[in-house]
Amino acid sequence: MKNMNKTIIENTKKFVKQKLENAEAGHDYWHILRVLKLSKKIAEKEGGDLFVIRLGALLHDIADAKFHNGDESIGPRIARDFLQKQQIAEEVIEHIVKIIENISYKNSLEGQKFTSLELQIIQDADRLDAIGAIGIARAFVYGGYKNNLIYNPNLKPNLNLDKETYKKSDTTTINHFYEKLLKLKDIMNTPTGKLLAEERHRFMLEFLEQFYREWEI
Ligand code: ADP
Ligand code: NI
Repeated sequence: MKNMNKTIIENTKKFVKQKLENAEAGHDYWHILRVLKLSKKIAEKEGGDLFVIRLGALLHDIADAKFHNGDESIGPRIARDFLQKQQIAEEVIEHIVKIIENISYKNSLEGQKFTSLELQIIQDADRLDAIGAIGIARAFVYGGYKNNLIYNPNLKPNLNLDKETYKKSDTTTINHFYEKLLKLKDIMNTPTGKLLAEERHRFMLEFLEQFYREWEI
């Protein structure tokens, strides 16, 4: 059983790496590996089924809706098709697919329909990778990819975005900090996730202070 699971994880890594070959740099295979590592670190303290956590982390961005014309069904479908070709119990597949369907921030904006310890852990890991120094780098990569402005002092952030407005938002990248990134610390699921979020959150605040100091010189 142990060896079979190891083979499945290796197959999944290969599959995901190849699928994300041309991905935008903020949602590429390196993002997946960081989320995998963070998920394992959180699970060391919080528990959870490591097989589900590994597969869920590896497959969580397999086809992100924002790179597929907003279609939210593609990712879960690709993951299910892949998992069904491996020797995995149907109930485990079902759990992993539910994790992928429910992990995203925009879905959490309209009330998440499913939860489990494994989902909470991977979601915390994904959110940690969205904040701190790496989160800042990723936000500007995504902003560049969308050709969004870095900053416009006349455009105020919209703090109460619902899911549809959030998806459409072509906000400045600095506004994205207020519309999402600075909110993440307070919606972490696990105590370990909360703890890890603190330092990264503080670093974003420092970054913003310095940014405005330079802007207003
Ligand atoms: P999820 O994939 O959990 O739904 P998002 O779609 O909000 O989360 O995007 C994940 C990451 O992509 C963010 O953490 C951020 O780095 C980047 N991103 C998304 N939207 C924007 C934006 N409008 N400006 C800058 N970065 C963004
Ligand atoms: Ni992700």
